Amino acid sequence: MKRMILVFAALCLAVVGLAYAGGDAAAGKSKAASCMGCHGANGEGMGPNPKITGLTEQAFIQAMVEYKTGKRPHMGMQALTKALSEQDFADLAAYYASL
Ligand code: HEC
Repeated sequence: MKRMILVFAALCLAVVGLAYAGGDAAAGKSKAASCMGCHGANGEGMGPNPKITGLTEQAFIQAMVEYKTGKRPHMGMQALTKALSEQDFADLAAYYASL
């Protein structure tokens, strides 16, 4: 029983590790094309759309998840994040954090 708990704990850690350590900035750059219209070519912000550089990867991913789950209200960001995966969030976070 103890062994099974250990195996389960190790699996959980592996999954969390994959979800949050898997950001690939190069992949994120190619996925960022749809963000530029609102957030600017380099995420610098434009008009009412906030700057999205300078966030930690964790804060960036958290914001994306909150739009996706509806916790943060914004129609545009909610619709957009629904079409994206956790991997997309991680890649985009890595890209914008690298700017
Ligand atoms: C239709 C315009 C639009 C598009 C396209 C868009 N955004 Fe946004 N985004 C916004 C607006 C407006 C906000 C602020 C909403 C709010 O008040 O919460 C925002 C907020 C954010 C935030 C939270 C910023 C913070 O400081 O909390 C992140 C992160 C973000 N967008 C990332 C992206 C990414 C990545 C993409 C492309 C996949 C994208 N956005 C595409 C308009 C847009």
